[in-house]
Amino acid sequence: MAHTQNDILAPIPRVREFISLGLRPGADGVQALQKLQAMKGNQCVVLGIGEPLMRAVGREIPGLKTFVPVSGAGVTFPSTQSALWLSLGGDDAGEVLHRCRQWLACVDDFFHLDEEVACFRYDIGRDLSGYEDGTENPQGDKALQAAIVSGQGPGLDGGSFVAIQKWVHDLGRLEKMPPHARDHLVGRGHETNEELADAPASAHVKRAAQERFEPAAFMLRKSMPWGNAREHGLYFVAYGNSFSAFERVLHRMAGLDDGITDGLLQFSRAVSGGFYFCPPMQNGRYDLRALGL
Ligand code: HEM
Repeated sequence: MAHTQNDILAPIPRVREFISLGLRPGADGVQALQKLQAMKGNQCVVLGIGEPLMRAVGREIPGLKTFVPVSGAGVTFPSTQSALWLSLGGDDAGEVLHRCRQWLACVDDFFHLDEEVACFRYDIGRDLSGYEDGTENPQGDKALQAAIVSGQGPGLDGGSFVAIQKWVHDLGRLEKMPPHARDHLVGRGHETNEELADAPASAHVKRAAQERFEPAAFMLRKSMPWGNAREHGLYFVAYGNSFSAFERVLHRMAGLDDGITDGLLQFSRAVSGGFYFCPPMQNGRYDLRALGL
């Protein structure tokens, strides 16, 4: 039976470090994968494999591709595609940091660090703008349906495709706006978390309304805030049974469907982006059959 990496479906922990890694020049991709396969997955780790690693071993995973930058009027969502992606979560920032160091040390012969983002849970699961994030996430069986691959065969079933983006906020700009104007950027009330009937078409929840897409664009979002007083934002994470839902929502946010860009872009911009396949587990280890191992 196919097993999904546990932490994909687990609740958001207090802290998570997200790491993107590039394959070192000349490193043997097959040996790198064998090294990963020998490492035990655990409750608090999600591992994702990027297309550059697949290219290095001359294999393809159906549905896995490199994140292609998206541009709209005055908007760019850049790609910073890496070969490998890791999410390490826990309750204690120090303990998570040390686990990250151990992972990096284990794979150091093969991979170098491209991006590291230390994230934390804010209050009941808010973005740093103060708005609750994750309200419309699918639950239970619907979450499994949206996020987990099924019916594709061994090595794929139980896996998940994850899209990530680091966003940098300009909260000073947001805070200069009157509260109702802020609410209209998001399309929900800051105090009530209620959807606002009179929100403009640019409001984020109108751009991203999953049920309004044909077919519906459900995804399982597990984003978390990051940063310090000087620089901060949201590390966006969305798991899907393919990248289709994410791509369609992102295109609408960029105004590619109707020329209307997302209200969020008034105070935030994406500075990184990548696509990864999170393989299923077999007997406590990563099941890399889809990769020919
Ligand atoms: C700065 C970046 C972002 C912030 C601060 C943000 C914040 C939010 C908030 C506050 C909500 C409303 C509550 C909820 O249902 O979760 C929401 C909804 C949603 N967001 Fe985002 N978001 C961001 C980027 C994105 C991106 C890049 C995507 C996908 C491409 C996305 C997809 C969605 C979806 C699908 C919903 C639910 C819409 C619905 O069906 O009602 N978001 N987001």
